[in-house]
Order: sequence, then structure tokens, then C-alpha cells
Amino acid sequence: MCGIVGYVGPKQAYDYLIEGLFRLEYRGYDSAGVALQDGSKISIRKKTGRVSQLADLCKLLPIHGTSGIGHTRWATHGEPSDTNSHPHTGGNGEVVLVHNGVIENYSILRDRLRELGYVFRTATDTEVAAHLVAHQLEEAVKLGDDPFEAETCVRAVESAVRQIKGTYGLAVMFRDVPGLLIATRFGSPLVVGMGRGEYFLASDASPLVGHTKEIVYLNDHETAVIKADSFVLRHQDGSAPALSIRALEQTSRDTDLGEFDHYMLKEIFEQPQTIENALRGRLDDEEATAKFGGLNLDPQSLGRIDRIVLTACGTSWHAGLVGEYLIEEFARIPVEVEYASELRYRNPPMADRTMIFAITQSGETADTLAALRECKRKGHPTLAICNTVGSTIAREADGGIYLHAGPEIGVASTKAFTSQVTVLTLLALLLGRMRHLSHPAGKRMISQLREMPDKIRQALKCFDAVKDVARKYYTAENFLYLGRLYNFPVALEGALKLKEISYIHSEGYPAAEMKHGPIALVDEDTPSVFIAPRCEIYPKVMSNLEEVKARKGPVIAIACEGDDKIAELADDVIYVPDVDEYLQPLVTSIPLQLLAYQIAIYRGCNVDRPRNLAKSVTVE
Ligand code: M6R
Repeated sequence: MCGIVGYVGPKQAYDYLIEGLFRLEYRGYDSAGVALQDGSKISIRKKTGRVSQLADLCKLLPIHGTSGIGHTRWATHGEPSDTNSHPHTGGNGEVVLVHNGVIENYSILRDRLRELGYVFRTATDTEVAAHLVAHQLEEAVKLGDDPFEAETCVRAVESAVRQIKGTYGLAVMFRDVPGLLIATRFGSPLVVGMGRGEYFLASDASPLVGHTKEIVYLNDHETAVIKADSFVLRHQDGSAPALSIRALEQTSRDTDLGEFDHYMLKEIFEQPQTIENALRGRLDDEEATAKFGGLNLDPQSLGRIDRIVLTACGTSWHAGLVGEYLIEEFARIPVEVEYASELRYRNPPMADRTMIFAITQSGETADTLAALRECKRKGHPTLAICNTVGSTIAREADGGIYLHAGPEIGVASTKAFTSQVTVLTLLALLLGRMRHLSHPAGKRMISQLREMPDKIRQALKCFDAVKDVARKYYTAENFLYLGRLYNFPVALEGALKLKEISYIHSEGYPAAEMKHGPIALVDEDTPSVFIAPRCEIYPKVMSNLEEVKARKGPVIAIACEGDDKIAELADDVIYVPDVDEYLQPLVTSIPLQLLAYQIAIYRGCNVDRPRNLAKSVTVE
């Protein structure tokens, strides 16, 4: 949440900053701003709304400078407004900074600073940080330190953040020290791109693509002191951490829209490829099992696990629910799926041989990170199922499995979900083969998994049928999504997709639970989406469907190709290829993603930038 960029070097900083903000806009789009240092002063432009509005403002009122910072905001404290937009200034403008995170003790700090004479102009928690740095600077100067020295500024930042409770990624500039950029973090990501005689800063690697191939991720409590000709990393405890330079793997193709109108649609159509990527190199035909390079666990430790906790948020949590069904069925290991936001504060009994998997696309979700840290602190092995290479969760977990789905930019998660489910299927296969699953059963799973990219390709052909259905129902104000067994999490996911991008109230339930309450919502204007491919309890799902029809509720069925019977009952049918039950979430989620997309389009919603949301939820 919130995106940060920064630049120091010989070029005009604005070009990198604005391009970077466009790339980071998925992290927040309530407002955007930049600040540039031209050698004698810092100029600021900021604007409520999209980065394009900021760019328009900067065309009218250009600013210059070879060092600068920028920010795209997802509002936490203070409504979206020009005043509340970042950058914020501290003191009398001698400090300018941008912030990602939440300063939990901001009201105590603000009161203290007010008493000292600092004037607050915004409703943000960030302004506290700006004044705090200014105050520390003033104190240092009183003690005889030189305000024009970088070291004085670094110490001021370090003393300020020591007083902050909460999370922060900060990029700070000083009016009187041109060409100095200080970045520091706790709980909010920051990465530095190494150039020749120039350095780039960003919240994630996407703005760095095309500018550098070498990057350094900051760890919590680290401070980067950046000038055009030097980059020094120091820990807030006074030590000097070694620079761990990594190769930037992302390419510009990953972030281009190509032939598509929206990232969400592009990412939906990428799924045959992303599932192939998730499988690549992980199928062991000889042993009829799966293999992963990065688990960092020997077979004995894996074999000893007798309980698994999957923890995640949102869509990743839904993938976890599918994982629970898969692992319990194939490996017979008890699994619990915990909302990370709950797990981080709960204290459930966890036996020694419990293994924790954090599932996350971004690898930066604050709640998931906190839950992972809590479990780690209690001594459990922690693993990540993660898409973003080098993200905080990927780095902090003891080991993990990357999705290799490429950057997911659409705020509504699509390809990450199917990749997570694919990886969890592989995990179930691996753990199953270490226990009860036979060689032939493992072989069968492998050959079915190999067919999945093609099955997804076929499933995507339903888009025209989906468009017809969307046209018919896009004005509905309520939707129900119903499925059983492996398709219950898919129902939850379908409902989440619809509500987050079209703002239609939608709920997912196990189809049979309907009778226990939600059926009261059924009327002629409330469509029910039944995820009803062939399965063991297909007749039972049909009975649930009849119950809705009997109450005049319109029914949209997601069914297997060749199921003509369902067409007699449902008002509309969208067909997907027939696959074994445990693989159905991979195909049945496709029409639901497309349906949410198309309904949002018909309603005129911005599918890639839904209101109130941000891609990466780095606040609690
Ligand atoms: O990056 P993560 O997978 O940890 O994100 C978790 C959720 O914030 C995310 O899945 C969210 O629910 C999406 N907007 C759903 O489409």
C-alpha cells in the first residue's frame, strides 16, 4: 500500500519518478506527488487522484532537480486531498519525505511536537515523521552538529524512527543537503536499484525495470544513505550490514498491457502459461512425485510433519482452503487454514511438528508477514508460497515455493490464485507420496497436471458465453455463489472477485448451507451462480439448485462440457472442460474471473483500480 520512488544522479529525476509512480499506481491511487531538489530548494507538486493527474499538473507547473522522491497514496490517516497527499514537509521545509505504513503513536508524537511549536497542516500520520526528523535535526544542530552534513541528517532520521511505533518505509530529502536521499524501513518494503553514478529507490522492483539489473532489498531497521556517487547501508543499531546485490529478473514485457485493455484480463488469459510455469521442473516422473528446489527441508523433516497451518489473506486464503482439501485428501495430514490477521494475535496450540505455510502473491501483506513472524518466533518451520521474488515474506521464511507467475498488477488477483492452487496440488502430491499415496496414483496426478495448461486454454473459450451472461445480469445488486467440496472455496473466490471490482454485494457459501440462512436472500432479482461440475455429490448440488429455482431465483450454472441436463434447470450455463474433482478449482475459477471482469466493464467500473483497494496491503 502506497508506492514510493526516489532518484539521485546526474539526470532530471522527474522522468524516473513519474514513470515509476505509474508502475506503482496499483499500490494506491488516492493521490500522488513528487518533490525535487534543484540544488538550492525543494519543489513539491501533489494532487488528489491518479498519477496521470499529477503528470498533467507537472506539465503546467514543471519542476526540476537531479534528486527527488515520489509517492502514490492509499489513504489511511486523513481523507484523500491535495493537502494530505505526500510528500510532506517538516519544520520550516528543511525536511521533505514520503511514507508508506502506519505510525500508530502519531497522536502522542503530534501533541508533543505541537507543544514544541511545530505546526501541523494535514490530517496524516506522516506529517509527524516529517516534523520529528526536523526536530531531531534542530536538536543535533543545537549540540553543534553541522546541518549541511549528511551524517547529521542520517542521525536525525535514525533518532526520529526510533520514536515511531508502527510501520514505515520512508524516503527523506533535506533542503540544505542537495543530492542526499535517505531511505529506511520497518515493515514496509523498499528496494534500491544500482546504476552507474545514479541510484533508484522504489517500493518494489517494477519501477527499476529498464534502469538497472542490480538491486538491493532493504531489511527492517536498515537505512540506505544514497548520493549520486555512493550508497551506504547501515543498521539502526550502528552496524554496517553487507550489501547483498541481487539480479533483477523482471522485464518490461511482464508489465506491458500488450493487446489487452486491462491488466486483469491480460492476467486471466496468461493462466495457461502461468500454470505451466508453476509446474516446470517440479514433476518427477520416475518417483511419481513432485519436487521443489527451495523448501530447505530434508525428507526426514518433511516426513515428520503431522499438522499443517496455511495462513493468508483474501484470495490467497481461498487458495489455502483448496490446499486444505488437497493435502488432507492426498497426504492425510490435518490442515488448518487461518486468516493471517487472526493468527497473528491468536495463540492456538501448535504441536512441535506443525509446519506453517504463508501463502501470498505479493510477499508483503502486513498481516501475513506478522503471522509468519509470530509462528517463526514460536519455533515452527515457516515456508512461503509466494509470487514476488525477493519480497519480505520470501526472504524471511525458512524456505518456500515461488509461483513464477510474473508480476500480477491487476488489483483483483487471478493468475496468482490458480498458480497457488497448482503449487498446493504439487505439495499434496509430494506429501502424499511420502506417506500413503501409491506410485500409480502419483503417476495419474502428474499426467493430469500436465494437461492443465490445455484445459485452462479450453476453459478460456467460455468468454463469449460469459459476456452474454454478464449482459443479462450486470444490473443485479446481489449475487450468491454456491459450490460444494473443492468448489466451495471457488464460490468464495468468485464472490470476492465480483464484489471487489463491480461493487455488487455478493456472497459465497457451500451450496447446502443455503438453507440455513442465505436462501432468504433469493428472489427474482438475485442471481445464484452454481459451480456444479460433475462430482461425487453432483445430485446433491442439483437438489440445492432446484431449491433456488423453486423460489424463482435466476440460476447461472458453471458445468462440465456435455452436461445437457443442467441446461434444463439453469437459466444460463457456462461450460468448462471436464477434469477430476481435485483439479476443478483450476478450471471453474476461470469463468468466474471473466464474469466479474465483464460485469464490472458493463457497469463502467475501473477493473484494474477498484475503489478503496490497493494491490499490496502493507498496513494492518
Ligand atoms: O499479496 P497477497 O496474496 O498476500 O494478498 C492478499 C490479499 O490482499 C489479496 O488476495 C486480495 O484479497 C485481492 N485483492 C483479491 O483479489
